[in-house]
Amino acid sequence: MLEMTIIQGLVKNGLRTPTTIEFLGLWEKINNPNFKRIEFDSFKGEAGTNSFTLSPLSGEHQCRTYPARRCANRSDHCFEPTCHSSNALLIGCTRNQKTQMIQPSYYDQLKTRLATEPHTWLITGVAGFIGSNLLETLLKLNQRVVGLDNFATGYQRNLDEVESLVSAEQWTNFNFIPGDIRNLDDCRCAMAFRHSREGGNPDCQESAPVEYVLHQAALGSVPRSIENPIATNETNISGFLNMLVAARDAKIKRFVYAASSSTYGDHPGLPKVEDKIGKPLSPYAVTKYVNELYADVFARTYGFNTIGLRYFNVFGPRQDPNGAYAAVIPKWIASMIKGEPVFINGDGESSRDFCFIDNTVQVNLLAAITENPEATNQVYNVAVGDRTTLNQLYEQLCLNLLPSYSHLKGAKPVYRDFRAGDVRHSLADISKAVTLLGYQPTHRIAEGLKVAKEWYV
Ligand SMILES: NC(=O)c1ccc[n+]([C@@H]2O[C@H](COP(=O)([O-])OP(=O)(O)OC[C@H]3O[C@@H](n4cnc5c(N)ncnc54)[C@H](O)[C@@H]3O)[C@@H](O)[C@H]2O)c1
Repeated sequence: MLEMTIIQGLVKNGLRTPTTIEFLGLWEKINNPNFKRIEFDSFKGEAGTNSFTLSPLSGEHQCRTYPARRCANRSDHCFEPTCHSSNALLIGCTRNQKTQMIQPSYYDQLKTRLATEPHTWLITGVAGFIGSNLLETLLKLNQRVVGLDNFATGYQRNLDEVESLVSAEQWTNFNFIPGDIRNLDDCRCAMAFRHSREGGNPDCQESAPVEYVLHQAALGSVPRSIENPIATNETNISGFLNMLVAARDAKIKRFVYAASSSTYGDHPGLPKVEDKIGKPLSPYAVTKYVNELYADVFARTYGFNTIGLRYFNVFGPRQDPNGAYAAVIPKWIASMIKGEPVFINGDGESSRDFCFIDNTVQVNLLAAITENPEATNQVYNVAVGDRTTLNQLYEQLCLNLLPSYSHLKGAKPVYRDFRAGDVRHSLADISKAVTLLGYQPTHRIAEGLKVAKEWYV
């Protein structure tokens, strides 16, 4: 008779490979949608060797193989996978030593802590895609937030949507400043939270200095920067410098800023590792690289604490699907829904590391709050570590939308020339953020697309 074994644990999406032990088991979801709980009712193979294979009985998931090592301080029958950096937490042992690792991630612990400890944050670009998602998360965690935006590419409707998603009390913790980062006074003005309580004396305004800055305001888009490099330069470099100066003078605790994977430029290496960059391929990439240089100089010259986050193709709710500079996922979803042609620049084999917005929000919070001295004054890749070609993306989007839009049956994309300034492949090594910040992406592209799609349909 096969020895009965129970494996229980939490698996972050996207574990990795090799083999020796086979488990047959069941996958089931627990309350936290970011985790899957796995119970295996039998296994074969040898414990404690280099790897094992999971063969869930239910058809929902495919058999996978994971590297493993013996657990320190545990019996020979107990083993755990050595995880790919972005994943974690599977532990197993025989039934009589049944072990459960329902352990919240570092980020979950941080959120729990924040919810009871209000801090004051400034989000620039708060009416944009990433900024408004940061706002939603922080307000839901009962934080005080100052938001700065000039609506260059952001929308009041994004702020209205956030208002509809938080409680009335949480919304009173938001202080919006219509302003422009190209204006130093606007930046300085945004360094304190002020609001008057309803019914109180309007002259007696509460005021709290900003502790953490999440600087998102910029003119995005490579093609926009090629068409108008001066505008991109003014916001992305002069505006950035204004923000650094204002934040330095306000003595904020941490300045976290949106850098970009475009900084890798023409460096051919894959996956992209933070310290190996090439020459920029667009004015936009120049501006984002200059941000990193300025941040570094501010650390050396003024002892000012920054963390740069090199985002890799972020996507999710509230990302603008319209306009000439829309990002590929919202633009394609919008075209597919309307039955309009979907254009692929090039042969469709260019690839990207698409990163769902929740992962991006997570790293911003981790970066702001980290007390690890080695983690500051650094730049980090923010992605998942998965490579998806544009052809694969097209297929996935069609599959997601087909049940609601039958006109997509048999639909094909229209191929056209490669676009100037675009890199051919982009794939991140995320181990630095995992190791130094405790980042654990919660959504791979498939899960992210499901959530994003719901917002657009
Ligand atoms: N979305 C991505 O995939 C991605 C990838 C790499 C880097 N980034 C960077 O992330 C940040 C946020 O990007 P996003 O996708 O949310 O873009 P977005 O265009 O939706 O948001 C940018 C926000 O900044 C505001 N803004 C622009 N110029 C301003 C100015 N002069 N003063 C005040 N506010 C101004 C806009 O109105 C907008 O609300 C940007 O810095 C962008 O370069 C984004």
